[in-house]
Amino acid sequence: MNTKSTRRWVVGAVAAFAALSLAACSGGSSGSDDTKGSGGSGTITVGFSQLGAESGWRTANTESVKAAFTKDKGFDLTFVDAQQKQENQIKAIRDFIDQGVDAIAFSPVVETGWDQVLQEAKDAEIPVVLVDRTVKTSVSDPYATYIGNDFTKEGETAVAWIKKNAADAKIFELQGTLGSSAQVDREKPVDAELGSQIVGKASGNFTRAEGKAATEAALQAYPDMTMIVSHNDDMALGAIEAIEAAGKKPGTDIKIVSFDGVRDGLQALHDKKINYVVECNPVYGDQIADLVKKVVGGEDVPTRTIVPDEAFDQTITQETIDARKY
Ligand code: AHR
Repeated sequence: MNTKSTRRWVVGAVAAFAALSLAACSGGSSGSDDTKGSGGSGTITVGFSQLGAESGWRTANTESVKAAFTKDKGFDLTFVDAQQKQENQIKAIRDFIDQGVDAIAFSPVVETGWDQVLQEAKDAEIPVVLVDRTVKTSVSDPYATYIGNDFTKEGETAVAWIKKNAADAKIFELQGTLGSSAQVDREKPVDAELGSQIVGKASGNFTRAEGKAATEAALQAYPDMTMIVSHNDDMALGAIEAIEAAGKKPGTDIKIVSFDGVRDGLQALHDKKINYVVECNPVYGDQIADLVKKVVGGEDVPTRTIVPDEAFDQTITQETIDARKY
C-alpha cells in the first residue's frame, strides 16, 4: 500500500470507527451526522483560500461557503481572503499545508502560476478541491475535483442573445481580471463569434469602481460603441454610472449585456438599464462541502461538477428579483 492509499485507508477507518462508536453510544440508532473522515475528533479540518471580495457574486459565494463548513456540520474551517492577489493565495495554501489540514479548497484568482504549490499539496497528500475558477498546470492529477460554473457556456449564451437582438452592435468588452478563467472563457465565444464587431476592450478587474473608470475611458476612446459586454454585474453597474454621467442612456443608447445575476444587476435589468444578464450561480457551498467530505473519506467523486445557470432578459419580474438568494 503506498502512502497515499495508507492515508486514505486511515481516514476511512477513523470515520468508520467514529460512526460505529456513535451508533453504539446511541443504542444503535442512526441519525448522527458524524460521517466525517479525519482527525481524532472526527472533525474535518479545511483550509479555504477565497480569492477576494471584489463583487456581489463573491460575497454571496463566501457566505454560502461559510454557511456550509460549520462546526455542527462536522468541519473546522480556516477561511482566508486573498484580496485578489495570487501571492496571498499561495501563502495561505502553504500555511494550510503546514497546518496539516485534511483538505484544501481554493478559488484561483488567475489560471496559471500554481504548479509549485499544487505539487507541494500533492506531496503532502492533502487533497485539493478546486472551486469556481480553473487552473492550467503541468502537475499531473493536481486536484481531487473541480466545482464551478461553465463560463464558456455563459459566454455562448450571451453571444446567442446578441446575435438575435443586437446583431449590428459595436461592442466594448469590459473584461474581468485578466488571466482568470472567468475572463478567458467568457471572452472566447464573444471573440470567436463577434470579433469583427468589437471596437475595444479593457479590464475592470470585476469591481464596480474599475468598471466605471474603464467605461469612462472607453466612452472617450470609442464614441461609436453601442454595446458593452461586461464580464460581471458589478462592472456593469459601474458602467451605468459612467454612461449616465456622460449624458447617455444605459440600456438604450448603449446596451449592456452582463454576467452573474446578483440582485442589483437584475434590478438594473428590470429598470431597463441592462439588457440581458447571464446568470452565474454562486450559492453552492453545500456541494463543495459534500465533495470535501467524500474526497477526505476516500470516496470517488466526479472530476468536474458544473453548477447550472439561467439567463434573464428585461421581462424579469420584481417578484423574481425579490426572491433571489443573492
Ligand atoms: O469567478 C466568478 C466571477 O468572479 C464572477 O462572475 C465575478 O463577479 C467574480 O468576481
